[in-house]
Parts: sequence; C-alpha cells; structure tokens
Amino acid sequence: MDNFLIEGGKSLRGTMAISGSKNAALPLMAAALLADGPVTITNVPLLNDIFTFNKVIGETGSQVLFDQYKRELAIDPTQMNNHVAPYDLVRKMRASFYMTGALLGAAGDARVSLPGGCAWGPRPVNLHLEGMRALGAKIEMDGGYVIAKAPNGRLPGGAFTMNPSSVGATVNLVLAAVRANGKSVIRNAAMEPDVVNLCDNLNTLGARISGAGTPVLTIDGVDSIKSGTMNNIPDRIETGTFMIAAAMVPGSDVTLTNTLESDLGSFTDTFRKLHVGLDIGDSTIRIRSADRVPPVSIETAIYPGFPTDLQAQWATMMTQAHGKSTVTDHIYPDRFSYVPELVRLGADIERRENTVIVRGRSELRGASVMSTDLRASVSLVMAGLVARDETEVLRIYHLDRGYEKLEDKLNAVGAAIHRVSG
Ligand code: EPZ
Repeated sequence: MDNFLIEGGKSLRGTMAISGSKNAALPLMAAALLADGPVTITNVPLLNDIFTFNKVIGETGSQVLFDQYKRELAIDPTQMNNHVAPYDLVRKMRASFYMTGALLGAAGDARVSLPGGCAWGPRPVNLHLEGMRALGAKIEMDGGYVIAKAPNGRLPGGAFTMNPSSVGATVNLVLAAVRANGKSVIRNAAMEPDVVNLCDNLNTLGARISGAGTPVLTIDGVDSIKSGTMNNIPDRIETGTFMIAAAMVPGSDVTLTNTLESDLGSFTDTFRKLHVGLDIGDSTIRIRSADRVPPVSIETAIYPGFPTDLQAQWATMMTQAHGKSTVTDHIYPDRFSYVPELVRLGADIERRENTVIVRGRSELRGASVMSTDLRASVSLVMAGLVARDETEVLRIYHLDRGYEKLEDKLNAVGAAIHRVSG
C-alpha cells in the first residue's frame, strides 16, 4: 500500500488543471450500455474507480477501450451477452450498482451484487429497488445479489417519489426508464450536475427526458438510444477541494483551469465568506489566500446546497480559522472518520453526533495519519500541507480512487509530497 510523505509549510502558487468528474463519468459509462452501437465518452479521469467500472462493464461482454492519453472511453455494447455484475467488483466500487438500471433498461434482465457499506456506515439501496419496482420491475434477492427482471423483457414505466432524494437512485431509475415501454415520473429527484449531465447526454442520443435539474423528472420511454458521443463535465468536488486548499495554505495564489463554476451550486457563495481573493473566469477560478481565515460554519444539503463531499475538506480548513466554527453533515451523519486523525495532528476538533465543533487556530504538527475514505484522505493531505514538519498519510489507495495524479498536481504548484510504495 502506498503512503504520502508531506513536508508542510509550502505555499501553493501556479496553475492546476481540473480533471473530468468521477461522479458524472460513472453514470455515462453505465448509460453507454443502453445504446444500439458504440458510444464514446470524453474527459474521463484516470482513476481507479473508472478502471474498476471498466472491468464491471467488460463482464457483460461489451467492449471497453480506454484511450488514457485522450481521456476518452469507447464502449460498444453490441456484443453484450451477460447481464451480471459480480460481487468481487461491485464491493470495490458501489456505483457499479448502476448496472442494475442499465441492464434492466438495455436487456430487461439484471443480476447485480448488492454493494457493501463504506467507511462511514451503511449505504442503503432501498430507494433504488423500490423505484425499479415502481417502474414495473420484478425484484428478488438471491445470495447477496439483486435479480431484476422486466416483464416481457421491457419495463412499462411508472411513477416514484423518493425520500430522501438520492443521487444514485435517480441515476439508476433514469437508466432503467429511458427505454421503457411507456412514461415514467420520478419525484424528489436529485438535481446534482452529475444527474443533469446524464440526462442531457442521453437526450442527445435520442432519449426523451424532461425536468433535469428540477425535482421532477419525466421520462418518455423510447425504442432505442443511438451511438454517439457523451461529454463528461469537470469534477466539481476536485474543484472545491483545491479551492479550499488554496484558501487555507498561507501565501497561496492558485488558478484552476478546465473548471465549470456554475456546477458548484451554493458552495461559491459560502466560499466568498472566507474573504480570500477569488476571480471567476469562463473556465478558470483563481484563489489567493488571505492573511486570516475567518470561522465559517456550514451544513451540508442536497444540491445546490453545500456538498457532503466537501465537508471534511472544509472542517480541515476551519482548524486554521481564527475562531470557532461548526460543520454539520445532514446527508451522512457519520462521515467524520477523519476527525481522530486531525486530532493526531494537533487540531482542536470534537464531534457531537452529526456535527463537529472546530476551534481554530490550531498549529498542526506532522504525524502519521490513516486514510479511511476518499474525501477524508484528501483532507489529511491538506492538513499535511499546513502542518509543521513531516506528515505521513497512510493507505492512499483511497485517494487514487477519486483524485487524478493528486501529488503531481500539488507538487507542480509548490507542495512537497513524496509517494512511498508500501
Ligand atoms: C453519491 O453517492 C456520490 N457517489 C457520493 O460521492 C456523494 O457523497 C453522494 O452522492 C451524496 O451527494 C457517486 O456519485 C458515485 P445518495 P450516493 O444516494 O448516490 C440515502 C464521493 O466521495 N439513501 O445521494 O450513494 C443515503 O443513505 C462519493 O465521491 C437511502 O436512504 O448517495 C444518504 O443519506 C461518496 N436509500 C442519502 O440518501 C437509498 O436507496 C443520499 O445518498 C439511497 C440513498
């Protein structure tokens, strides 16, 4: 297992290119299985989750070619002959569960392993299954697998109201509904850019989805989805991560390129409360750190609210704030595995149920800390950037799932991160 050794105290100055979105690419990859011929997906990041999902898609007999230089994926589902997503792959990457909707929509038949939980607790899929039943699927469980079948090979469509709103369940139901033999309506649907991008790309290839970006999605089933190209969007969570890093590391001046600031929702307005230098261009965002980081409390919410995927990063920055703040996660109340690790670095942060109270300004000192999940890991790296001496971040395979060439990008703007193969 690889680890990072980070020498703290270096300012970040220069340009960082944002990669394609992991969480928007995965739905597009599943959607490619619905097409009548080959589909090309652009701006695909080089991440372990993408490589894992390529294997999952390959299990169906579909052809997957990843041009890693051009960052383009070519998926050809015409030779699909197996409607199974096996446990040993699904357990590694829970978004593989999108195969349920994709295989139901493409073939009317799916045998997909239930995904496991994750570092911060159970990740239920009840909404996915209840929603598919509402669209007319017959759902049974067998040995940890979901067996989903469409009567007569094609779903009739239907209506479903989800509670709470779920990104994954919305994606899965869109995939199941686009080629249904009728109309489907999904209420309290997720409005994340990942969902909007999926719907827009499917419509380009012949789907008939309306209401993307609103709580009500209406899908008129079509007989076929054409071959063609689906365009991925920049990674808004990587963007927010690097914005926070630049704001919390003293003396920093960073320009992010290949960005889509409009996908950040209310995050930008919250970020402005930091009173750091912020210049937003068409596809660039420049951040200049200020002398002091003020305490700014946040609460996560579904899009366009503050993303749960940025709460660990924000809490880490608040350890450097001049005052007390709170970070509350309403989406994942247990997503605080990074807290004990920040305490090891000297942070004054304590958890009370789904809130952490952060008392800045802590002087962080280097230590060995443990990654537990993707966003917790990047937060420990960010803490290492400001900690005195050297910080060792263990088990950074979590990072490699969701941040493309993280140490290269940060070292190119002045950080001192060394990857040690464990
Ligand atoms: C997606 O996960 C993202 N993953 C997560 O990012 C992100 O944290 C999450 O959305 C919330 O924004 C991908 O896009 C691959 P949800 P997902 O279903 O779809 C509850 C990262 O770091 N729920 O929107 O699994 C659930 O418990 C990852 O990149 C049910 O109760 O999230 C949670 O409280 C981590 N039943 C809430 O909904 C269900 O059937 C939102 O979860 C499904 C979800």
